[in-house]
Amino acid sequence: MRAKRIWAAVLVFCISTQLLCGCGRNMSSGKKIHVGVTYYNQGDTFLNELNNCFQEQLSELESADLHITVTILDADGSQRTQDDQVKELIDAGCNVLCVNLVDRTDPSKIISLARENDIPIIFFNREPVPEDMMQWDKLYYIGADAKQSGVMQGELVSDAIQRNEQIDRNKDGKIQYVVLEGEAGHQDAIIRTESAVDTLKNDGIEIEKLGYGIANWNRAQAQNRMMQMIGQYQRDIELVLANNDDMALGAMDAYKKLDFTETDIPIIFGIDGTDVGLEAVLDGKMAGTVYNDKEGQAEAMARLCVALVSKKGMEDMEFVNEKYIFLPYEKVTSENVTDFLE
Ligand code: BGC
Ligand code: CA
Repeated sequence: MRAKRIWAAVLVFCISTQLLCGCGRNMSSGKKIHVGVTYYNQGDTFLNELNNCFQEQLSELESADLHITVTILDADGSQRTQDDQVKELIDAGCNVLCVNLVDRTDPSKIISLARENDIPIIFFNREPVPEDMMQWDKLYYIGADAKQSGVMQGELVSDAIQRNEQIDRNKDGKIQYVVLEGEAGHQDAIIRTESAVDTLKNDGIEIEKLGYGIANWNRAQAQNRMMQMIGQYQRDIELVLANNDDMALGAMDAYKKLDFTETDIPIIFGIDGTDVGLEAVLDGKMAGTVYNDKEGQAEAMARLCVALVSKKGMEDMEFVNEKYIFLPYEKVTSENVTDFLE
């Protein structure tokens, strides 16, 4: 805990220094934005990449009369820790908060703290339920439409199956599959799985679910779950659907650990297009992924932070229902992966 605090403090210092260097002399007369960010778990690959983009976007928005500092904290999987961190961020003088909830069904404490101090909140990536979003008019959400990512994953799979009859290894006319799921209760876990499977069915693909493992978005947990499923279903598995790239990579790790040759490994699909995910598509280890637009999300977050504090530019934000900003997903295969690697 202590080490983390120090780490966070150093980070604040670095970012403010970096941002300070980029700005003009008249800073004291300009607007000051102090962004307070808390992540559910900074070990998360996708969020780590999103965080880097967010910092870049904020520094790009700096100018002679706009001084931006950022404090970033890691709740390390505990909602109570995150509630305390929000208080800490408010006490430290943050005038806008970006919250990546630990428990997306439990933001009430955070909302009331922010409301008492009149500090707007931008929730991101882990979407509060609509009832909570209605608690106050200074609550926003930036993310992506979970259903769209599942549909796109389903379309990628459907396409691959129709193009390659070798995927149905036992030639029974059905594709035997397993699912690696993200956290139970996360909007992107349940909805991605359902819509990917529905898309396959709607395309007339016969599928048979052998099993599933909940691996909480995590590569090592996915490797474990996958080892168990391979132990159980052996070579019957013809397709692995993973709710994110890290779990797809965990599935590959499992096959590698069990010494499967490349031709014996079934097709594996992820979602996110993280750096490692895109590399796996490029190498042909992952059949496809769906790009979760971290650059777009980070840009929208940075612009909204500035607009909320400076009270300028709100009309340029592209809201849905006045509170939500959703960035579109994109399909990635070996054919277009280089466009994303740049
Ligand atoms: C991403 C996952 C990530 C999760 C964290 C999802 O949108 O696809 O990779 O672990 O968000 O909340
Ligand atoms: Ca089959």
